Amino acid sequence: MGGKRRVIQFSTGNVGVHALRALVGRPDLELVGVHANGAAKIGRDAAELCGLAEPTGVTATDDIDALLALNADCVVYTSQAETRPRAAIEEIAGFLEAGVNVVGTSLVWLVAPHHADAWLREPLERACRTGGATLYVNGIDPGFSGDTLVHAALSLSTRATAVTVQEVFDYGSYDDAEFTGASFGFGTTPDHTPIMFSPGVLTSLWGGQVRTLAEGLGVELDDVRERHEKWVTPQPIDCTMMTVQPGRVAAVRFGVEGVADGRAVITMEHVNRLTQAAAPDWIYPPEGRPGVHRVVVQGDPGVEINAHVGIGIDHNQGGVIATAARAVNAVGAVCDAPAGILAAHDLRPADHLRGTMW
Ligand SMILES: NC(=O)c1ccc[n+]([C@@H]2O[C@H](COP(=O)([O-])OP(=O)(O)OC[C@H]3O[C@@H](n4cnc5c(N)ncnc54)[C@H](OP(=O)(O)O)[C@@H]3O)[C@@H](O)[C@H]2O)c1
Repeated sequence: MGGKRRVIQFSTGNVGVHALRALVGRPDLELVGVHANGAAKIGRDAAELCGLAEPTGVTATDDIDALLALNADCVVYTSQAETRPRAAIEEIAGFLEAGVNVVGTSLVWLVAPHHADAWLREPLERACRTGGATLYVNGIDPGFSGDTLVHAALSLSTRATAVTVQEVFDYGSYDDAEFTGASFGFGTTPDHTPIMFSPGVLTSLWGGQVRTLAEGLGVELDDVRERHEKWVTPQPIDCTMMTVQPGRVAAVRFGVEGVADGRAVITMEHVNRLTQAAAPDWIYPPEGRPGVHRVVVQGDPGVEINAHVGIGIDHNQGGVIATAARAVNAVGAVCDAPAGILAAHDLRPADHLRGTMW
């Protein structure tokens, strides 16, 4: 291992706070800067922002030029980006053009970069070329389930006739009504169309992973289609995310399907409920657990892998830490990689775990 990578944490939100904690703790990485957007956070020590006792001496700023001047090796970008993509592209491109590598969990379309729309991909590719820098975006789902867990499962079958990648997760304890709550339509009347269910949005988010997997399998898809369904609660549901009144949406399920010969052969789907009381007729994770990331292969042999993040802690907390891990753990490999936008398959398995044990 070379010297410590000098890293900037960009944002201190749900995911960012865990990325920040990881960066402060990791012996192979050195936190040199922190970006925060919220006025109340600026000027505060990074340790305070992520609940650590010992000050780091690094204080949060919203001055991007000052962060660029640090000449860091890498930025961990976890700012809210799907609601403000152009601004996020500009911020990320600024670092790439200056020769600073970026790993992140934002702009989730880039989890499958080769299938991301040109308006998103091209300015970032240009910035990578200009600065000779590398960009890598990942997460748990989209991300790990559809580009790593699924490979592990399929590698155990000699013949697969269909594969399903699932997130079955109770979001009740997830404290994110503004983005996840609103975009999934929780708490709204069933006639409301949340952004996730606007035509084409699910496909834009998971379709790239479906297509990438089909390419890996050498399967030609006739179509990639999407579906979604809502469940309305007959009783009030009270949880961390929100209180859902009777007649309002408290669970959703949706999927993106890769179709070959008229059959869904690759499915990436979610079942998300607010508390275990919601949508009692829909599938649950095994063993009474609140969440699972699962792959089921129909084939010879059939294979099922169930991944549970958050052992000993809340599963939603586990999910955001795991999402942060997919970016933070790749810092070293991304710094060493050739310029350009990487997908998970451009990295070796060990690239996602180097530095996690010391
Ligand atoms: N693929 C996956 O599995 C997965 C899972 C979870 C999240 N994600 C993605 O990861 C990213 C972060 O998620 P999150 O849950 O941490 O998001 P979040 O908590 O909603 O927002 C993250 C931070 O973005 C900053 N921010 C918000 N609005 C801003 C604005 N208008 N201008 C500038 N900065 C703004 C804030 O930073 P400060 O608080 O520092 O001011 C906020 O805390 C999102 O893009 C999300 O889609 C992916």
